[in-house]
Amino acid sequence: MLKFWDSSVGKKVVMGLTGLILVGFVIGHMAGNLQIFLGMERYNAYAKLLQEDLIEVTWAVRVVLFVSVVLHALSAWQLTRRSWAARPVEYDMREAQVSTYASRTMRWGGVFLFVFIVLHIGQFTLGWKWLLPEFARGAAYGNVVLAFERPLWVAFYLVAMFFLLLHLFHGTWAVLRTLGLARNAAEPLQRRVPLIIAIVVTVGFSLVPLGVALGIVR
Ligand code: HEM
Repeated sequence: MLKFWDSSVGKKVVMGLTGLILVGFVIGHMAGNLQIFLGMERYNAYAKLLQEDLIEVTWAVRVVLFVSVVLHALSAWQLTRRSWAARPVEYDMREAQVSTYASRTMRWGGVFLFVFIVLHIGQFTLGWKWLLPEFARGAAYGNVVLAFERPLWVAFYLVAMFFLLLHLFHGTWAVLRTLGLARNAAEPLQRRVPLIIAIVVTVGFSLVPLGVALGIVR
């Protein structure tokens, strides 16, 4: 087991499998959040289900997510260090050949997404007042509306969703290759399944801040 973790392929498999768990979560979370368009009662009832009625399930999911994020970030960090160590001196000239913008933003985009997740949980679950002074426990709908009535938060979330799009697109494609389920495709737009997953998740999430900003949700 330790030998597996020590190998670069082992770390990639860990990064890929934990990534798949996180993809599963974002799809479910996105679908749950779209219920905001069904009104306050429905959305708050859904939040209550997760926060009270099914709290044991919620805690089990939290533990799995936490472990996944830690292993995902740790394997990414260790692989990055290995890749830096393998080329300690930068190229004089660096011109992308077959890499996509998405693949080149995985590391810093990933760091940004991590910061986003910490702030997001602080804002909507932990109720950090400096992020949302009017936060009220048990009022998920009101919290989301109050946050997205501020253009700054709408912009921050939309930027985060842009990075999520890139990260999901490259990540879901890379894991298919790591697990041997897809061949290398030089043409990025041939990566249809990753593209569809990335677009559906990102657009689905983005509709929430946009819905509030446009006055459809209030
Ligand atoms: C516009 C997009 C999003 C909206 C409106 C939204 C909304 C929310 C709300 C309202 C909560 C708090 C639920 C509660 O405590 O009652 C929450 C929790 C959470 N969200 Fe999001 N979310 C969004 C995007 C994301 C994204 C992109 C991720 C991850 C990449 C994410 C990860 C989480 C996590 C991990 C929690 C904590 C769940 C828990 O353990 O209680 N969210 N979200």
